[in-house]
Amino acid sequence: MGKTEEYIAIEDNYGAHNYHPLPVVLAKGEGVNVWDVDNKHYFDFLSAYSAVNQGHCHPKIIGALNDQSQTLTLTSRAFYNDVLGEYEAYVTKTFGFDKVLPMNTGAEAVETALKICRKWAYEVKNIPENQAIIIVCDGNFHGRTTTIVSFSNDPDATTNFGPYTPGFIKIPYDDTAALKEALKLPNVAGFLVEPIQGEAGVYTPSDDFMREAKTLCNAENVLFIADEVQTGIARTGSLLAVCGDCSCQQSCERQKDTYARPDLLILGKALSGGVYPVSAVLADNTIMNVIKPGQHGSTFGGNPVAAKVAIAALEVVKDENLIQNARKLGNRFRKGMQAIIDSNDLISSVRGKGLLNAIIINDTPDSSTAWDLCVALKNNGLLAKPTHGNIIRFAPPLVISEEELDTCLAIIEKTVLEFKK
Ligand SMILES: Cc1ncc(COP(=O)(O)O)c(C=O)c1O
Repeated sequence: MGKTEEYIAIEDNYGAHNYHPLPVVLAKGEGVNVWDVDNKHYFDFLSAYSAVNQGHCHPKIIGALNDQSQTLTLTSRAFYNDVLGEYEAYVTKTFGFDKVLPMNTGAEAVETALKICRKWAYEVKNIPENQAIIIVCDGNFHGRTTTIVSFSNDPDATTNFGPYTPGFIKIPYDDTAALKEALKLPNVAGFLVEPIQGEAGVYTPSDDFMREAKTLCNAENVLFIADEVQTGIARTGSLLAVCGDCSCQQSCERQKDTYARPDLLILGKALSGGVYPVSAVLADNTIMNVIKPGQHGSTFGGNPVAAKVAIAALEVVKDENLIQNARKLGNRFRKGMQAIIDSNDLISSVRGKGLLNAIIINDTPDSSTAWDLCVALKNNGLLAKPTHGNIIRFAPPLVISEEELDTCLAIIEKTVLEFKK
């Protein structure tokens, strides 16, 4: 048995089988590069589901982690610490909200937003007790907790996990008319939406969907809740996907005609550059102040290490112009991919925004072609994974250079040419 097989066998034996990883065992990462246990090099085209936007082991973020982890790691929120306030001021200024509620994982942040929305509905909007409805979209992915899977339509996420949490209704994604209808129902408190549906297969809605949705929600006094756990922090070529096609350079200018400002903004993943679990919900005082002491929290949420790591991760986005790089190299990637598609019938299309993209394989969703192509890509030195069925997501770290991107396109082209179904 080789080293790779040995590591896989241990995981297989002792770990729950809740994932189906590609057969590669990684041991080291730097920037867009990762190496396996045999020191074979790969380009990472998944970025831990868009968590590692700043690149693997970014020295500035690791420096912040090292420094803070030797000073003070966890106080719990039973006491103040001397870093949390600095982070709260920085993150609220960066995204333009009054307040932040810090948590750890994406799913926890979504749960936090749902709880704030419900509380606001009863205490500010005066919806009768236990009647609040939150609108969600078909094909959504917001995490794996019991409440969140209650409004999923993926059978793997839902089957035998009932009884489900009530209070959610689903509408088709990118359907303004359906949203308008749903908003007429009594007791609607919020609309929870991903600006691009990443897990479902990088479904990018029409350009004005988010802004129209925001306007419709505003008109009905319904909270517009954007889950930017995967799309946020420069991934789609703007600070947030709800920024639309803005042309901000160094900092967010919050351009009125492109920005669909959420009432509740949910962040995770790249908020720490993939170094530490850090997530957050941001909102203005009128909404966030419904939460009082004892009503929500988590032992690790807002700990000093998370706070320092997140500040460093957001500084890297600014310092290294990752928004601009994602926008520019995203266009280059889709152009290069389209040329590969035009000369081959294995892939039918490419879609996405910035450096969150997907290719659609010309085969049925239940075929193994997308998986087999990912294995072939791995053998040629590029790591990507099917999202659903015949869709492969390509989301490299945003620190990728033009030269590296061109090398990766060449790997994809070579693999596609060699590939036999
Ligand atoms: C849009 C979205 N929301 C929430 C989550 C859940 O985040 P986590 O896995 O950190 O709980 C994810 C994870 O992929 C996501 O893509």
